[in-house]
Amino acid sequence: MTAPNADVQALRRLISGRATCRAYLPAPVPAEAIRSIVDLARGTASWCNTQPWDLVVTSGASTDRFRDALMEQARQHPELDSDFPFPDAYKGVYLERRRRAGFQLYEALGIDRGDRAGRESQSFENFRLFGAPHVAIVTVPQELGTYGAVDAGGFVCAFLLSAQAHGVATTPQAALAMQSTFIRRYFGMPEDRRLVCGISFGYADTAHPANGYRTERAEVDDILRLV
Ligand SMILES: Cc1cc2nc3c(=O)[nH]c(=O)nc-3n(C[C@H](O)[C@H](O)[C@H](O)COP(=O)(O)O)c2cc1C
Repeated sequence: MTAPNADVQALRRLISGRATCRAYLPAPVPAEAIRSIVDLARGTASWCNTQPWDLVVTSGASTDRFRDALMEQARQHPELDSDFPFPDAYKGVYLERRRRAGFQLYEALGIDRGDRAGRESQSFENFRLFGAPHVAIVTVPQELGTYGAVDAGGFVCAFLLSAQAHGVATTPQAALAMQSTFIRRYFGMPEDRRLVCGISFGYADTAHPANGYRTERAEVDDILRLV
């Protein structure tokens, strides 16, 4: 194999250095840094260059007000209200990977596998935005359908890596899409915008056990078939 050039090394460092953050310090990210993160991420490819993603980002008191309202909403109406269908089932290797990632988190936090209340309380942290000082709500127009969401997924990935390059930690959250109607109305978004996910972000609390482990990945040969 040829030696990796500087670009490959830098990208590898960003991809392998990023991990989902589940505990934040309260310090805000400067507005210029938020703009710079989005400026880099907006170079993402999209079908027909539609760039269908749109972001609402909260800071300071607006994050706290949203956090409080979202927690109250999730307590009163825990039922799923997503714009895009959630997975029907996790089977086989997908179920195994999902379980493994969950167990890693609960082990790190000292939550016993049988401790249902402990797991639920950790899961509710999603609606507390894991204490993050900011959240980005990512939406796409309804009429672009599945591929609009695919484009937004590419944008989310670029946002995560761009944030990583700026020293900012992130949490992509489908959990926020469970409250799509509430969130759309809370921020006065047009009714035809579809909520893909949220991304809580800020500076990681690196001493917190929730941030003290890394998930695993399948090997290249498990996912690649060269023909
Ligand atoms: C689209 C998407 C939605 C996700 N939703 C959530 C979520 O609601 N809550 C959460 O804690 N993590 C969520 N995650 C994070 C994944 O659990 C995480 O990316 C995966 O376990 C791999 O771990 P890593 O990000 O630390 O590498 C989501 C990730 C993606 C890409």
